[in-house]
Amino acid sequence: MQRTIFLGASGDLAKKKTFPALFGLFLHGHIVPTTRIVGYARTKMDRPDFLKRISQYIKNTNTPKVKAMLDQFLDQCTYVSGVYDQDSGFQALEHELKRIERETKTIDRLFYMALPPSVFIPVANGLKKNCYTPKGVNRLIVEKPFGMDLESSRVLSKALGALYREDEIYRIDHYLGKEMVKNIMILRFTNQIFGSCWNREHISNVQITFKEKIGTEGRGGYFDEFGIMRDVMQNHLFQILSLIAMEAPASLSAEDVRSAKVDVLRAIPPVVESEVLLGQYGKSEDGTLPSYLDDDTVPKGSKTATFAAAAFHIDNPRWAGVPFVLKCGKALDQQKVEIRIQFKDLTHNNLFQKDVAARNELVIRVQPEEAVYLKVTQKLPGLGMDTVMSELDLSYASRFTNLSVPDAYENLILDAVMGEQSNFVRSDELDEAWRIFTPVLHKIDRGQVPVDIYPYGSRGPKNLPEFVARFGFERHLQA
Ligand code: BG6
Repeated sequence: MQRTIFLGASGDLAKKKTFPALFGLFLHGHIVPTTRIVGYARTKMDRPDFLKRISQYIKNTNTPKVKAMLDQFLDQCTYVSGVYDQDSGFQALEHELKRIERETKTIDRLFYMALPPSVFIPVANGLKKNCYTPKGVNRLIVEKPFGMDLESSRVLSKALGALYREDEIYRIDHYLGKEMVKNIMILRFTNQIFGSCWNREHISNVQITFKEKIGTEGRGGYFDEFGIMRDVMQNHLFQILSLIAMEAPASLSAEDVRSAKVDVLRAIPPVVESEVLLGQYGKSEDGTLPSYLDDDTVPKGSKTATFAAAAFHIDNPRWAGVPFVLKCGKALDQQKVEIRIQFKDLTHNNLFQKDVAARNELVIRVQPEEAVYLKVTQKLPGLGMDTVMSELDLSYASRFTNLSVPDAYENLILDAVMGEQSNFVRSDELDEAWRIFTPVLHKIDRGQVPVDIYPYGSRGPKNLPEFVARFGFERHLQA
């Protein structure tokens, strides 16, 4: 694969994620000299302006070596401006692609659509009609949102499916490119100690938590239409849930891995309103941090949830009776994403003091500071036989001192370049996720699920501890 085309090359994602990731891949030798990166957006600018703009997106270029590499990278970038809903823009793009083809003698094309959902279909159409090469490989990376509910997602899938084959469509969920998310299958399927107790006999509940310290801060326009459940839970957290809960795939092929995920999703009934807790952030307790409604980009009086917790149940022999509780929120007290597997309480303990010898817990910290740790009971050092809850701790920063964790977008763009689809969302997987969420989302959209106000910088709605306790979650004394 020799060519990357970016659509929406001037947006936020290009700035924060995709161009820095492309440069990261370039630094590691994954963008070969014959690759050309073509930016495409509505903004009119010439090539020097475009290069200036993307070099601003790329940080940490202080050393002469990296500076020189950046110049080489920019040599491989060009720009075409055009609209999204008329052939003229795509014809100009095709013209540029043909020119590149003559220059580099390469033909394969990777189109990255980081665009507002309203133009997905016209753009996919325009590309198919004007820029599809019958001589080589064509791949389309599609950014979320993939619809608003089951019905709109099906409309989108049908329209895309009429233009491109499933093996040409790469629906990106960047959580699948995160190091610790990629680690889940390895942890589960290569360690006897976890593999053998990964079931209802041993596990009491699973908690998957996403917390951000910042609010919407100017991104409210997009966010308000979707809300936190669509923005984070239905995709990122649900991908984590699938990897934690699925059976071992027959192989690591993209089809087998994704089929195993679909199988487990099929065993999950739709989430019910009584098992959902919603919140929206208000001002911080000291009044210094703004409420969601203070964000100018948020419509007045909006009831959109910026916090959601929900319980899911998997009706299969491995998981029956084990709740999976997903929680996500903005403007909270901490910045972290983690998975907590809480094992069952000891059934028999007549030897040691009971208040401390509680349950084991496996924690996979996705970010920040990637780590895997297991909460275990130990002897408290000293003359007595007191116990203490402690951790077997694998912290990446201290264990893998010479290795850096790649960015999720680097991982996934490289996968797309290589034609590796395991970490992209298949259409039936998407369909199942929407089936599970749609009934409650419609109730939320109709204002039928209460939304509690929580202070900016707090742990979330006041009923959260009671909510998680309902599903068997026990906070450790030292958690
Ligand atoms: C995006 C959401 O998909 O993921 C954002 O739209 C969220 O609202 C972001 O902040 C979180 O990604 P990360 O990689 O920073 O955890």
